[in-house]
Amino acid sequence: MTRRVIIDCDPGIDDSIALCLALFDPRIEVVAVTATVGNVDAHQASRNVQTIIEMLDPPRWPRMGMARSDEDVSITIARELHGTDGLGNLGVQISELHHQHPSDKVIADAVRNEPGELTIIALGPLTNIARALNRDPDLSTMIDQIVMTGGSVQGIGNVSAAAEFNCFMDPESARAVFRSPITKTLVPLDVTRELIFPFDLVSRLPSQTSRAGGFLHHVVPYAFRAYRQHLGLEGIYIHDAVALMAALQPELFRTEEMAGDVETQGELTRGMTIFDQREHRDWRINMDVVVDLDVIEVQAAIERGLKYAGQQSV
Ligand code: RIB
Ligand code: CA
Repeated sequence: MTRRVIIDCDPGIDDSIALCLALFDPRIEVVAVTATVGNVDAHQASRNVQTIIEMLDPPRWPRMGMARSDEDVSITIARELHGTDGLGNLGVQISELHHQHPSDKVIADAVRNEPGELTIIALGPLTNIARALNRDPDLSTMIDQIVMTGGSVQGIGNVSAAAEFNCFMDPESARAVFRSPITKTLVPLDVTRELIFPFDLVSRLPSQTSRAGGFLHHVVPYAFRAYRQHLGLEGIYIHDAVALMAALQPELFRTEEMAGDVETQGELTRGMTIFDQREHRDWRINMDVVVDLDVIEVQAAIERGLKYAGQQSV
């Protein structure tokens, strides 16, 4: 039984690598890919979703959703790590941007069409999911599960000292999703930063003659250069691919039930995720949080998936 998913993302190089894995993985059916503002603005995020799907031309094309432009903000570190176009300055001209429905409507319609069947894999700020819940509150009883990249249990951020990027970009939406009754699994920075891909990953990417390989051989080397230049790292994090693997192969991860929330006001702590871990906590448990992973097996699974995407896109 293939798992049916919606991928909400802000491509973004790590988002695009996760899409490369998901669109060819035989274990899942990607029903929809919906764009959200985050690493890039709304128009670019919508274009990037279409660009990735056109370039990869997977066996089954998902529905696409467009990010709404009323949340446009731009963050320097995102442009530095992902390029001004979000895809390592790929410079690919797609055919004109097809008019798609707004992402939150695509999500709401897909969930209503298959109540209880769909997993949402949220790889960007949670704006669209919060909007979908706001437009159709009953959805919270119809979404099977959300697996999301975001937050930090130890409180060490990336976009700020305290906050992880996806929660920082839209803390109000993150709080709304955290507080919803949906079954949630959070994949925080504490775990995604355990896995630093070494530069020799490039030598293990699928051949450039394949559609997936041609795409990956552009975005991955860009990421390595950007991480070295802007973070001083000899390697890259692929946060969203790790989160996808948490959905596909949960046996490689360990989770703990936690009571989590998001700071929406703090001058220094906006977007910080807080977890009540007191012995006598009074916050209600509301999610599973990934606290550990088998680094070697997750890296191997991601590299196997990319190789398979290359084989399926010759
Ligand atoms: O903090 C990492 C997350 O923020 C990833 O999803 C990355 O793509 C950015 O969206
Ligand atoms: Ca992302």
